[in-house]
Amino acid sequence: MLHRLVFACALVALFGAGSSLRCRWMDHKFKQLSDTSLDLLGKMVINATNSTGNQEDAGEEVLFPHHLYRNASQESDENKVAFTVQVLKEVSVLFEEDSSFSSWQQSGLEKFLGVVNTLAERLHSCVPGSLDPNIKQLQMYFKKLLNHILKKHGYSVEAWEIIRKTTKTHLERTQRLLSALISS
Ligand SMILES: *[C@@H]1O[C@H](CO)[C@@H](O)[C@H](O)[C@H]1NC(C)=O
Ligand SMILES: *[C@@H]1O[C@H](CO)[C@@H](O)[C@H](O)[C@H]1NC(C)=O
Ligand SMILES: *[C@@H]1O[C@H](CO)[C@@H](O)[C@H](O)[C@H]1NC(C)=O
Repeated sequence: MLHRLVFACALVALFGAGSSLRCRWMDHKFKQLSDTSLDLLGKMVINATNSTGNQEDAGEEVLFPHHLYRNASQESDENKVAFTVQVLKEVSVLFEEDSSFSSWQQSGLEKFLGVVNTLAERLHSCVPGSLDPNIKQLQMYFKKLLNHILKKHGYSVEAWEIIRKTTKTHLERTQRLLSALISS
């Protein structure tokens, strides 16, 4: 009898208090590594600032998927993390596209990709069984970035700058999305 009671209490302790997701790596390292990725992205400043491409117009061709972030923010903790993993994976794939015209120093790009991939892997290990329920929509959105921004504008410096800025917004949004899950 006492056994059962102790067991029940343990279960309550384990699954109670709202969030069922506990991931030590996330508590200690997510914010730090995510900040690092933003720093690296900030340093990937375009060298050819001389060009006068119209970034604003091109940027409007693909709308930021606010609705997907809104959806994720109302989903379970596991799905919030799974969504973030998928965003990071898509970012990584996008930046591995032909970046020979981006004027970024290769070493900076590689560091950035290294951090983004590490973030994706470690977060994924926090929710091994979860898959983003909106994976299809997210993939379509990133495909649009590739086709309607990078390819359409011939992988120009301006196009890459749009991608860089958009990615910055994604990284910031994922930080905000996961901030409530991280216990300090
Ligand atoms: C920018 O271009 C100049 C001259 O082409 C080069 O010396 C410099 O290393 C470049 N800087 C970056 C950050 O790529
Ligand atoms: C900047 O633009 C001017 C005028 O179009 C051009 O003469 C110059 O070569 C450009 N410089 C660079 C670094 O692209
Ligand atoms: C989020 O999107 C998924 C898939 O489209 C949907 O099934 C789910 O109900 C949405 N969640 C919320 C909280 O709206």
